[in-house]
Amino acid sequence: MSGFVVKPEPQQVPGLVHLHTGKVRDLYRNEAGDLVMVASDRTSAYDWVLPSVIPDKGRILTQLSLWWFDQLQDLVPHHVLSTDVPAGAPADWAGRTLVCKSLRMVPVECVARGYLTGSGLVEYRESRTVCGLALPEGLVNGSELPGPIFTPATKAAVGDHDENVSYEEVARQVGAETAALLRQTTLAVYGRARDIARDRGIVLADTKFEFGYETVADGQDRLVIADEVLTPDSSRFWPASSWEPGRAQPSFDKQFIRDWLTSDASGWDPGSDSPPPALPQEIVDASRAKYVEAYERLTGLTWS
Ligand SMILES: Nc1ncnc2c1ncn2[C@@H]1O[C@H](COP(=O)(O)OP(=O)(O)O)[C@@H](O)[C@H]1O
Ligand SMILES: [Mg+2]
Repeated sequence: MSGFVVKPEPQQVPGLVHLHTGKVRDLYRNEAGDLVMVASDRTSAYDWVLPSVIPDKGRILTQLSLWWFDQLQDLVPHHVLSTDVPAGAPADWAGRTLVCKSLRMVPVECVARGYLTGSGLVEYRESRTVCGLALPEGLVNGSELPGPIFTPATKAAVGDHDENVSYEEVARQVGAETAALLRQTTLAVYGRARDIARDRGIVLADTKFEFGYETVADGQDRLVIADEVLTPDSSRFWPASSWEPGRAQPSFDKQFIRDWLTSDASGWDPGSDSPPPALPQEIVDASRAKYVEAYERLTGLTWS
């Protein structure tokens, strides 16, 4: 089982049309035809959107994403037009709202991996490949790869897992030229981000980007980086100080939540059909502190 424990209702804002309620973000279209992305404080674990929220999470991840877009500007243009809260929207939207160019999205989840874990590890154990790419023998959970690899996936509906596909399959679906551009851009952005994170004591194990096309003045198509980037929701961040290949690495943000949900204290079994319970206050507080820490360590700024 998976999904929302409590499905949130979209906000009624004059001039905005509600498009989509994601696990974490709510999407609207404004009268100019731009996309309004609002990051909530919802959090998910074990494929469930939990009944508890982590205060400020949506704001922290939005500010982190904006900071990254800035760091990447010379590699690829991004989709953000402004951070203005639409007139008539709840005051709580401040800091969590991005008004974005509405792009023609490329339907590929562009994953870069510098380390082996998750679905990559599962495939590696079966065939010594990830997305069909051959890897050396002897790698274990958390091993650094000889070099970063592009491991695309196709998008799945809420609750379903994305499906890893080969580069050749991506080229068949979106064309050879776009596939090459996706791979090149994904690896360039990952490399930049990995180096920045490493300097700040954080391992960027893997991350997912989404891209879209915009048509620029001369009628040419231009690839733009979209969605959120390099947040704990789209990436695996591990504290470098405790990185140790050969076991599951503690995740930077959700470890407290996962540990508590699987402990006796929660009374919940992730394998069962029943929805997860609300988190105790101390788990909420500890999680919030982790998001703040990730933001502060990566950006070098103070969260306020
Ligand atoms: N600039 C953009 N233009 C058009 N669609 C976008 C843009 N940026 C992100 N998206 C799309 O918006 C949606 C965001 O939804 P999200 O909150 O991630 O929910 P989920 O991925 O769970 O459906 C995704 O489908 C993403 O591809
Ligand atoms: Mg998404």
